[in-house]
This record gives sequence, structure tokens and C-alpha cells, in this order.
Amino acid sequence: AFAGGCVLLPVVLQHRGYAQRTDERVEPFTLFFRKPPVLSPVRSDATTDYYRLTMQRATVEILPGLNTEIWGYNGIFPGPTIKQRRNRQSIVRYINNIGKPMSVHLHGMASQPQYDGYAEDLIPHRYYKDYIYPNNTAATLWYHDHALGKTSLNVYMGMAGMYIVQDENELSLPLPKDNYDIPLIIHDKKFASDGSQVFDDQAQHGLMGDVITVNGVPWPRMEVANRKYRFRILNASVSRSYKLALSTGDNLTVIGTDAGLLSAPVSTKDMRIGMAERYELLIDFSKYSLGTQIVLQNLGPANNDNFGNTDKIMRFDVVRQESDDSSIPSTLRNIQFLPESSAVRSRDFTFQQNNRLWVINGNGWNRNRVDANPQLEEVEIWRLHNNSGLWFHPVHLHLIDAQILDRNGQPPLPYERGLKDVFYVGENETVRVIGKFRPNIGKYMYHCHNMVHEDHDMMSQFKVGSGGIDPLSAPAKPLPA
Ligand code: C2O
Ligand code: CU
Repeated sequence: AFAGGCVLLPVVLQHRGYAQRTDERVEPFTLFFRKPPVLSPVRSDATTDYYRLTMQRATVEILPGLNTEIWGYNGIFPGPTIKQRRNRQSIVRYINNIGKPMSVHLHGMASQPQYDGYAEDLIPHRYYKDYIYPNNTAATLWYHDHALGKTSLNVYMGMAGMYIVQDENELSLPLPKDNYDIPLIIHDKKFASDGSQVFDDQAQHGLMGDVITVNGVPWPRMEVANRKYRFRILNASVSRSYKLALSTGDNLTVIGTDAGLLSAPVSTKDMRIGMAERYELLIDFSKYSLGTQIVLQNLGPANNDNFGNTDKIMRFDVVRQESDDSSIPSTLRNIQFLPESSAVRSRDFTFQQNNRLWVINGNGWNRNRVDANPQLEEVEIWRLHNNSGLWFHPVHLHLIDAQILDRNGQPPLPYERGLKDVFYVGENETVRVIGKFRPNIGKYMYHCHNMVHEDHDMMSQFKVGSGGIDPLSAPAKPLPA
């Protein structure tokens, strides 16, 4: 039900290396957990923080004793975390020193079209672009490559980082903060025996690594205090979804979705996270005695691909006694959900496979075609259908935050009942999503976030209103020689 491993078997066997494990060079839970560094602005003025990120290649040690080439923002994977206050503008200078054209999208931000990282709005090698972000939403976002037809390779090689926007409401809540508010960026990889990354998209079906990394470290172990922690989880994998659960069988407390806090915490035994989704969890380690080891498990696709350790993600070792002044509020924020009756129309989008190409309503990408043209502030219901057989499609809409009305007529999962920008559409599922098209006019992409599907060619665009800034109207500038 997760990744369609069975349907892939004939393809898999042709790919030497896929049928053999590549994860044997590292024992799970032997490497130390780390957080991506927080990026400092190069300068700030009354209205704006200015940041600089250089896309570059680097050689790093991911597997003990082996060198691995990655591509990363500032040469690291994941890239540095950017932290902003809501409604304070940021301008990020993206400098391309990778050696080929790249594009950068800040996923979850309502950017103007020329700053949204349109797939054809490429930054050539030795060029840069300044992207202006309004930061008008408080949520866990991420920036990643979006180059047409190359997103899966570029993100796989390391082009991804977290971007956190916080507002007064969130900061006023008694949730765990600072050192107890931790990003977990999950991403699966595959390695050749020399340590190089193997990019195998299995004839454009999907890429499944057998090494699970968290913040770039294979199956790390994190030493924690016996108190509550907040984890901001991003699935930055190319094609793998996960079903998270604790080895103790204890519940997880979900407090946030893609587009910010839920209205109230949701307690669940396990939770699914598709590619590009973000969920925020609280885990309370105070009930465990010092010395307890708790594995964050993946109950998901391990059975499909049969690679030994993909059923584990990381381990928490409770090693310290600490006091805890945080608590779990019963109300997190007030979300205005859109009633179904506010929609002016419904549209149908079918995600399927045609002659080996992934398509939406029969079409692949065409920059000159627009599939939907809601007017500014109009509310629409999008029915997302998946009849592609044994595959799921996490469908991402740029620009807007929306909510799930139902899955095959049933209510969404309890922890999905917040604002989202990625909608997991399981096999043989129809997911109805309601959203208001705002705050900008212009052309925006929507696509499957299995990046292999997105690249070949399950991506299209809608246009809000008429006119609007052309996404290609602000070309990159050359770096001084
Ligand atoms: Cu996360 Cu169109 O992307
Ligand atoms: Cu897909």
C-alpha cells in the first residue's frame, strides 16, 4: 500500500545494486544525532533580514570512513535552517556554484510568481537570484531545488533545508522551545561501495534508498533529557513515505501540520508522513527512566522493499535528568476552516500513468497550459483521484494552504485536520481538498511530490486571477567575475 514494491520487481532486477543491500557499512544508532546549523543573516534592516545561500558541491563523511559527494546549500546536507518571525520580510540570495542550472522553491511560502522557484526559472551556474519572502504564515517550511526534470536528482544529492517561521501566538504557548525544538529531516539514500550516492530511479518509478538518514546522519542516536521535546519532522525523501511509531508503543502527540499548528493536539499510536509533508510532534520522555532507549520506527514500506533497516529511523537515549517547564496546551490556535458551501466550484484531477509517463488528467508539464483559473479569493474544491495502481501520490499545491474534506468519503485522519499544502492520495483514493486562492495572482505549479513522478511529468499549473507577474520575468544575474 505504500510504495508499490511488488509491481517494481521486474524493473528492480535489471538494476544491479538495487537488489543488493548497500546499508551494511553502518550499524544503526552508532552515529551521533546533529541539528543543521541555523543561518545568520548577512545583514538586517528595519524591515528585512538578508540571507545568502551558495549551492555547491562538497565531499563529506556520511558512512564511517568513506567519502561521499553531496550537493548542498552552503555545501551541507541538509542546508542551514533559516528562522524568521512572521510578517518580517526576508531576502535570500541564492548563488549557484553547482556547475549546472538550478531553481529554488520555498515550499509553503506564498511567494510572488517570480520568486517561487518556477521549474523553468533557472539560475545558471555562476549566477544568482534574490528571492523576496513575505513570511506571512507561521509554519515549518523547507527550501529545495525545483529544476525542471532534475528535481529528484538535485534533492537526492542534497539540495534541501528547513525554513521556520514563528509568530506571537506560537511563541506565547508553553511548548518546548529552543534546544528542545528540534528539526528532524528524514531522507533515504543508497550508496555504492566507494561511498558515492547511487541515484537509481528505477526507470522513472521511484527512488528507494536503504539507508535512512536524519539531518544527514544514518540512523542517528540522540541523547535526550527526561522531559518533553518538540520535533519538526520533514520527509525530504524523493519517493519514500514513512509510518512513524515509537518502539515503546506509546502515543505520539501531533501538534502541527504542513501549514502550522493544529487547532488542538492529537494523540496517535502511529502516523504516516508522505514526501514533502511536515508534521510536528511532542514526545514526553519524562515517563522513561534514565538509560531507556526508544526507537523511532518506520512501520511503513519496509515490507515492500525488504531492506533490513528501513524499519528504523533513529533512537532516543534518555540520559539526563532535567526539569521541564513546558506543557501541552489543550488549544493551540484558532483555525478558520472553510465550509464546503463556500466553494464556488469543484474540479477533478486524475493522477495516473500513461505509457510509462506520469500525468495529470492525461497531461504532462507545459508552461503554456493552465489547468485551472480561479479568481483571487475564490474557494474551490479539488477532487484528487489516484487510479495509477499500487502507487500513492503526495500532491502539492503551491501558493495556498488548504484542508482535506474527506478521503473516499471518509473523514481525514485526525492528525491531518489542519492546514496543509501536501495531500497524500493513496492508491484508489479520491481526496477532496478545499482551499481559497490567495493572496497572490499569477501562475503557480502543482504536482506530485514523489520527485521522480514530478520530473516525468506529473506536474502542471494553475493561474489565480488574470494578469499577474510572469514567473520568468526576473531572470538571474551573473556573479561578478
Ligand atoms: Cu516542495 Cu513544487 O515543491
Ligand atoms: Cu506520484
